Amino acid sequence: MEIRLAQPQDIGPWMALVEQVREQFPGLETDKAMEEHKATVLDFIRQASAICAAEAGQIVGALLFFRENSMLCFLAVDPSCRRQHIARKMFQFMLPFMEEERDITVTTYRKDDPNGVAARAFYKQLGFSEGRLTEEFGSPVQEFVLKRSSQ
Ligand SMILES: CC(C)(COP(=O)(O)OP(=O)(O)OC[C@H]1O[C@@H](n2cnc3c(N)ncnc32)[C@H](O)[C@@H]1OP(=O)(O)O)[C@@H](O)C(=O)NCCC(=O)NCCS
Repeated sequence: MEIRLAQPQDIGPWMALVEQVREQFPGLETDKAMEEHKATVLDFIRQASAICAAEAGQIVGALLFFRENSMLCFLAVDPSCRRQHIARKMFQFMLPFMEEERDITVTTYRKDDPNGVAARAFYKQLGFSEGRLTEEFGSPVQEFVLKRSSQ
């Protein structure tokens, strides 16, 4: 398995992974939304802000991030490949692309959402702490913050 920046030719297998997990992500319900998401992924790929875990022509892990504001935007691992530290490796691969002293943020499922058990445990073990309660695509979410500033 290889962790690397995704390339435009990865878009087919990348979207095959998204298809597998789309029910867990608000905002990916319709075919139109999936088409828009595909265009968004291609934008991230062109900006070298899309990280993948690739194995035998398949994409088994996907991560999108914004460099400018140190934000993690999308993270998913193939259900058959979880708990193999793939997400952790993608996160570590991303870190050097972020500003060193800037806090990293992500929004994820709230505590009462069963979809969020893995994600919340994952972010917590990386050192993130719970932040503001907000909404995304009309769904209740919570911000998680990884403090990196020295103060
Ligand atoms: C969250 C997700 C990306 C984690 O991917 P993963 O590759 O399985 O995670 P890792 O193997 O790197 O996990 C690292 C650590 O996080 C914690 N963790 C991960 N999944 C967990 C779970 N289901 N329950 C409890 N702890 C968990 C553990 O401490 C784990 O280390 P360990 O296995 O040595 O105990 C994956 O479960 C997923 O794709 N979920 C659906 C989509 C999603 O929730 N995305 C995030 C949206 S913001």
